[in-house]
Amino acid sequence: MGRRVYLDNAATTPLRPEVLEVMMPFLTGQFGNPSSIHQDGRTTRAAIENSRKTVANLIGASTGEIFFTSGGTESNNMAIKCAVSDLGVTRIITSPAEHHCVKHSVEHLLAKNAVHVDFVKIDKYGLPDFNHLESLLATDNGKTLVTLMHANNELGSMLDLQRLSELCHKYGAWLHSDTVQTVGHFPINVKQTPVDFISGASHKFYGPKGIGFIYINSRCHIHPYIDGGSQERNMRAGTENICGIIGLAKAMQLAYAELEEDKAHINGIKQYMKDQLIATCPGILFNGHPSESLYTVLNVSFPPDPQTELMVMSLDIAGISASGGSACSSGAESQSHVLEAIGHPSDRTPVRFSFSRNTTKDDIDFAVHQISGILAGGVHVTV
Ligand SMILES: Cc1ncc(COP(=O)(O)O)c(C=O)c1O
Repeated sequence: MGRRVYLDNAATTPLRPEVLEVMMPFLTGQFGNPSSIHQDGRTTRAAIENSRKTVANLIGASTGEIFFTSGGTESNNMAIKCAVSDLGVTRIITSPAEHHCVKHSVEHLLAKNAVHVDFVKIDKYGLPDFNHLESLLATDNGKTLVTLMHANNELGSMLDLQRLSELCHKYGAWLHSDTVQTVGHFPINVKQTPVDFISGASHKFYGPKGIGFIYINSRCHIHPYIDGGSQERNMRAGTENICGIIGLAKAMQLAYAELEEDKAHINGIKQYMKDQLIATCPGILFNGHPSESLYTVLNVSFPPDPQTELMVMSLDIAGISASGGSACSSGAESQSHVLEAIGHPSDRTPVRFSFSRNTTKDDIDFAVHQISGILAGGVHVTV
């Protein structure tokens, strides 16, 4: 097989070996059901509660405010839908650039006539206009939930969560922020930054897939999202994903312990790729905020050219895993709602490259070499 370079870490990251190591005993010998009262159950229950403590400590929450879920999608659905069903929310303020799991949750509530929805204006980087947000908040339009993502998964642009939380607080609005792309990559402290709901997904910070968490501020009294047994203190029924929970906590602990080092390395990689692309691809543009941005994401826009029309597929053939700003179902790529919302020209081709702690300059050299090959009219397959 030819060389492959993985530059799609905003989609998912590889599992760290240290994380796998702590998960293994819970896939083998320690398999007791945490709800069982015997010793095998008590062992796994204690491991889950230790993990909860780790997660809570890392974001300045109390353990009673952390609930494990199946990932970012479930956490975001839970926050938005429970805010409406249990907190009396009748208006949602959101943006046109949210992740599908937020967008579709809001659309679902709208279709059921459960809420009124206001869209805050966004700028060319996909970031909300705070003046417009304040004017929306200032109109008394019922109990309000603001749901705005901390960092945009396609563009990388990051909003000022502190400013957002203070604004929501000023107007008495509940605040949910989709922090799936920032947990494990940026410090978050819910004591300093008063939010009501945030979400995390372990597979975005080198943990296992299918496990995440939701932070719910203790002032939000919501009812169970999934009915059944009394797991997760009655909030989310079903036998726990024990090895996932153990892996999530370990991955998050490592991510925060090594954050500065990883950030410096990945920032360097992002800048290096940007410089290389500017030097080799005439007419290339960059989407997303130039400084207020995820260091893991570089979203580029190739100029109109027959060679770039199916760029993500060409890159794949050339050994590079990257992502288009698109839902690609039949081989034909359609423009994403995020790029459409920022007015990205439909004749240019967007590609999201996203990096990890494992990405090297050599990976970037290879990727840029393959990209120039594609632009020159031929895909370079290396064996
Ligand atoms: C910003 C954002 N929100 C939510 C999700 C969904 O997370 P999960 O895949 O864990 O359900 C993702 C993952 O793609 C994301 O990037």
